[in-house]
Amino acid sequence: PRVIFSGIQPTGVPHLGNYLGAMQQWVKLQNEASANTSLIYSVVDLHAITVYQDPNALRTSKREMLAALLAVGLDPQKCTIFYQSDVPAHSELMWILSCSASMGYLSRMTQWKSKLDLDENANPLDSSTKTKLKLGLFSYPVLQAADILIHRATHVPVGHDQSQHLEFARECAAGFNHLAGDKLLVQPETLLSPAKRVMALDKPTNKMSKSALNPKSRILITDSSSTISKKLRVALTDSIEGVTYDPSSRPGVSNLIEIAFNLDGSNHGAASPAEYAKDFEGLSLKALKNKVAEVVDDHLMPIRSKFEEIIGGDGKILQEAAQIGAEKARKSAESTMQLVRHAVGF
Ligand code: TYM
Repeated sequence: PRVIFSGIQPTGVPHLGNYLGAMQQWVKLQNEASANTSLIYSVVDLHAITVYQDPNALRTSKREMLAALLAVGLDPQKCTIFYQSDVPAHSELMWILSCSASMGYLSRMTQWKSKLDLDENANPLDSSTKTKLKLGLFSYPVLQAADILIHRATHVPVGHDQSQHLEFARECAAGFNHLAGDKLLVQPETLLSPAKRVMALDKPTNKMSKSALNPKSRILITDSSSTISKKLRVALTDSIEGVTYDPSSRPGVSNLIEIAFNLDGSNHGAASPAEYAKDFEGLSLKALKNKVAEVVDDHLMPIRSKFEEIIGGDGKILQEAAQIGAEKARKSAESTMQLVRHAVGF
């Protein structure tokens, strides 16, 4: 059997990086799934609290993220969609895995360093690092490994920034299996999306992210037509004439082409961003931005109205989806946990 698992942090309404790097693939995998495939997607609220969250704001963000997952086309009947904290076994497996996970490996991982604005060589035991670094942020990848391994996932669709975490998850599975003496946990494969790295609009050498200070650096999947146009109009490009696809010398222009290609390329019969760009060769950059705005808006319009409908409703749709999801996810997690508990001697 094929088990697809992935997670997303409840950061409120997702941006185009989340959408193209992950959610769009999740829907595609759902729509192409055969009978022996199960799909499990989690809103990872336990991960969210590795940095302080205002409790009421977190509750709102969770609901918005769940509504966004439904709005992009995930179907709670076809997938298991759940809040991570509704399945306590994720935390239980995390503890068990952390008893064999390597501190050395975790200390080389880059995400906690970037969250604390530390350089690549920062060491968790240095006195200046130690006080800032919380244990939960440091061990974040162990919880992520538990998410994946507890459902015996075979494939994990993510953007490029999660590659390192997935390698760690495979390492955790191997480490545990080594002790448990058999192939109890499954080592998952990484499924990178075609749009594995969507860049920030104002700084196309950085990835588009929720935490960047400038709200014009990202397009949210519920942005209005006029907001989309405005953000694209001021997107950083260059002063070279005409449209060409060349990510290293023209990161800004190439990012816009990639965004449009990944939303609309198939309608053009284009197989790559470079081929897609040929259709726009003669355009000015201003005209390219208008074109991209149109493509983005056309694609997001139905998602935005579905989102508004769900979030503006009485909350029943979300409550029900979360409840069915939690039940299915608990069952799936429990079957692995019985083996794991036995293997460690409980
Ligand atoms: P998160 O919430 O930061 O992002 C969710 C998904 O969006 C992708 N993504 C991007 N893809 C392309 N370009 C971008 N600019 C961009 N920004 C975000 C991410 O790669 C991700 O696929 N640690 C994870 C959540 C997680 C998880 C898991 C993922 C927890 N447990 C188990 C997979 C499996 C995270 O913070 O993703």
